[in-house]
Amino acid sequence: MDRDQLVEHLKFAAELGVPGTSRDQAWRIRTVQTTREPVEPASVGFAATGISVLDVRDAASGDSGQPVVLLRSAAEVLETIRVEIGPACTRCKLHALGRTQVVFGVGNPEAALMFVGEAPGADEDEQGVPFVGRAGQLLTDIIEKGLQIPRKDVYIANVIKCRPPQNRNPEPDEVEQCEPFLFRQIDAIKPRVIVALGKFGAQTLLRTTEPISKIRGRVFDYRGAKLIPTFHPAYLLRNPPAKREVWEDMKLVSRLLGESA
Ligand code: URA
Repeated sequence: MDRDQLVEHLKFAAELGVPGTSRDQAWRIRTVQTTREPVEPASVGFAATGISVLDVRDAASGDSGQPVVLLRSAAEVLETIRVEIGPACTRCKLHALGRTQVVFGVGNPEAALMFVGEAPGADEDEQGVPFVGRAGQLLTDIIEKGLQIPRKDVYIANVIKCRPPQNRNPEPDEVEQCEPFLFRQIDAIKPRVIVALGKFGAQTLLRTTEPISKIRGRVFDYRGAKLIPTFHPAYLLRNPPAKREVWEDMKLVSRLLGESA
């Protein structure tokens, strides 16, 4: 197999979502030649083809003459997606409806746990960071006091990245434009567990109209992760007794993280 064939093969496998690749079209594939000692690939794909695939995060050195494909780190892929969205995205009408900035996402690009909310609110729109208002403070408590994980170790994003006016629900055309970027974020991060926050986030990701009260606390297979819907922190601020159910859901999240570690 020559280099061009190898590149085509990897692109095709990436499209299919073969483990060790990404559906992110922006992956840069390059070969390296090195005289250093061979290393054991830490993340290997295409075993059947005999092609070594090192994730750049794990690549301490190259190999002994065989072409080695270095795939970009999750952080680099996320940065590519951020750049592609651009600071002044105009793909949907929200850019003309009073949003200040795109709120991309925050946290550890290699997080095992990811939270997905609905859309930025006023505080998030102002600061450019998801979940920093009152609901965000409660989410931080759920993560840090409940799950005992530093907030910086998880990844937090929204289904759509611009604030809808008066915090109305995102509309289908807005979701259609923005959701592919969330999918690419998920594929780059490869979390083991995703928590979908609230009715909108959960119903959108799962393509369901089932009420959040019916789907919360259940485990769904989603883009290679386990997805658990739970109540939105903004709902908990209005309805504190529902924290009990969210606590049950977080115990499940902890268990799943432990099992898949
Ligand atoms: N609510 C959300 O769904 N997302 C945010 O970022 C803030 C509040």
